Amino acid sequence: MKFFIDTANLNQIQEAQDLGILDGVTTNPSLMAKEGITGKHNITNHYKLICTIVNGDVSAEVISTDFNGMIEEGEVLAALNPQIVVKLPMTKEGLKATKYFSSKKIKTNVTLVFSVGQALLAAKAGATYVSPFIGRLDDISTDGLNLIKAIKLIYSNYNFETKILAASVRHTMHIVNCAKIGADVITGPLSAIEGLLKHPLTDSGLAKFLEDYNKGKL
Ligand code: G3P
Repeated sequence: MKFFIDTANLNQIQEAQDLGILDGVTTNPSLMAKEGITGKHNITNHYKLICTIVNGDVSAEVISTDFNGMIEEGEVLAALNPQIVVKLPMTKEGLKATKYFSSKKIKTNVTLVFSVGQALLAAKAGATYVSPFIGRLDDISTDGLNLIKAIKLIYSNYNFETKILAASVRHTMHIVNCAKIGADVITGPLSAIEGLLKHPLTDSGLAKFLEDYNKGKL
């Protein structure tokens, strides 16, 4: 299972990278805006910086909504660094663009996926990754994890190579449950990843070991 961090914050990306378990980064226009990164030039530079911090795939989202615009933008993004994955929305134009990039062997991430039908189309178009947004489904009283299960079943029925990238992961149990289902990748905030580390018995056990060691020094 791969761990991507879902942020454009360079400090958090570095922190996750330093943990030694980071496999990649996903971003979107909202995450860029949150860091105050605006305008094509700054956003492009930011992608280049992210690629210097991590070794794995870095999803870079197109802003165009028409096929030609997506192709033009995606080709520029893909040329920035071999780590770049062109992130395309699950629309008719996005689907056509996914097919185009897959035929050119350029990696893609189909985003804003909320149904199995959309995931099936993304796989048919040859997407490298499909990004079902589990947190946003949970937000509207629909079990996001059920979507991951259904996509997993369909992809394994037909041996689709598209990787399931569980996105809009909000907390640690989302990661654990995605692992149980067999999602290929999760992308989430650093806090959700670091939550996996925590256990009170680890903390109290360590405190006791240190206490006993220090007694021995007296
Ligand atoms: O990975 C997709 C993500 O950025 C959306 O997350 O929390 O805004 O639903 P969220």
